[in-house]
Parts: sequence; structure tokens; C-alpha cells
Amino acid sequence: ATNSEILAAALEAMQRSQLLAGKRVLITSGPTREPLDDVRFLSNDSSGKMGAAVARAALMMGAEVTVVSGPVSVAYPARARVERVTTALEMLEVASVHAPGADVIVGVAAVADYRPKERAAGKMRREASEKHLELVPNPDIIAALAGLAEPGAKIIGFAAEPDPDLAEARNKLARKHLDAIVHNDVSEPGIGFGSDSNAVTLIRAEGEPLLSGRRSKLEIARWLLENTLR
Ligand code: PMT
Repeated sequence: ATNSEILAAALEAMQRSQLLAGKRVLITSGPTREPLDDVRFLSNDSSGKMGAAVARAALMMGAEVTVVSGPVSVAYPARARVERVTTALEMLEVASVHAPGADVIVGVAAVADYRPKERAAGKMRREASEKHLELVPNPDIIAALAGLAEPGAKIIGFAAEPDPDLAEARNKLARKHLDAIVHNDVSEPGIGFGSDSNAVTLIRAEGEPLLSGRRSKLEIARWLLENTLR
């Protein structure tokens, strides 16, 4: 590269690092676990890698970062404040404390939409007869946080979808009062849950959808913040 190209790249990187200077970013990440009894739960395979990547990208851009995370073994960046929770109700409670001061809220968490109506004490025992589980809907955390945030705060959601169709993600964008939503087609092998890379479509309240192409989750996170906050 020529000197002027290097200079341009350095200036661009410096500008990018200023994008979130002095801003507070709140991220929900990982799965939630909804207990059936003292030893079993309903959950999903979210590893927290995408949430950790958004945390790292926001820190690189100068933000102060809080992550409210379900049970995961991923390492969050040391400079992020990390609050650990288990259930969706706990995630809502803890994230609600941070939402009013946040400039940007990113819902990466794969929240269980339902929880068992009752938690059995001890361990449910096997019986010969059929067992029916009663489930009750969990609150919509990102929608609640959008309601608690200051006007002008940016609210970004993710939508894990079983196909490339964007319609359901667009519905979620409107229904949850988001500024942008990241459509993640989790039927594609090698992206989405648990993987190190991802490929997404960014749908903003205004403007055409943007395709990320396949990249590392950190690059996706940086691309996402740059294209929603500018
Ligand atoms: O953690 P990884 O292994 O890296 O995987 C990343 C990921 C696949 C989990 C991530 O990229 C992703 O797609 N996250 C959203 C998963 C999801 O549950 O999407 P959803 O379509 O059910 O929810 C839509 C939005 O509403 C999300 O921002 C979600 O956080 C939020 N939501 C959903 C339900 C609920 N009760 N409360 C919520 O806040």
C-alpha cells in the first residue's frame, strides 16, 4: 500500500473508534434457561459468541459496555461489565436497570419465548403415563427495554430465522419498535448458533436491506454498528 492509502486507512480506523466514544451500550447475550425442575430446563444452543463480538466491537469504538448474559462459557471482553442471569425474567429485571441510561441497546440473546408454568420441586419422576407440559409466554425483553430507553436511543434486535425470508424479521422490527434488526438465517450450516462466523442481512427502519456476506462475528459486529449508528 502507498503512504496515502495507509494514512487514509489509519484515519478511517480512528474515526471509527470515535463512533461510540462516551456512549453506553447495553447488550443481551446468550440463551436463557427455563427450569422444569431442579435439574432440568428448556433452552437453546446460543453460545454468547455473537454477543461477545458486539461487546468487543463497541469497546473498540470507545463505548462503555454492559452485557446481560445467560449461561455461556464464552469469554466476554475484560473491559465489559458482565451481569450473569439464568432465566428470561431475570434477564429482563437486570437489563431494565441499565436500559434508561443506554445510548444503544442490542438484543443478541436467544431468549426462550416460553417457560414452564410450574417448576417441580426436586426431580420430576418418570411415570408410565403421558406427561403434558404447560408453558407460559415470557416477556419480550427487547421490546420492554425499547420502552424504558431515552428517546433517541438506538435499539437493535436480532432475528434467528429458519429460512432466508425477511418477512418475519420485518414484523419483529415493527412490533418491537426497533431501529434495526439483524436477520440471521440459522438454517445455513456454519453460521448462527455456536459458530465463529456469521452471515446476516441488516434491515433498518429506513433504507434498503444490507447483506454482510460471510465474515467473523467480530467483523459482523463492527459492520452492524457502523451501518446502524452513522
Ligand atoms: O450466541 P451465538 O451462538 O453466537 O449465536 C448467535 C445467535 C444465532 C443467537 C444470534 O445471532 C441471534 O440470531 N440472536 C437472536 C436469537 C433469537 O432468539 O431471535 P428471535 O427472533 O427469537 O428474537 C428477536 C429479537 O427479540 C432478538 O433481539 C431477541 O433477543 C429478542 N427477544 C426475543 C424474545 C423475547 N422473549 N425477548 C426478546 O428480547
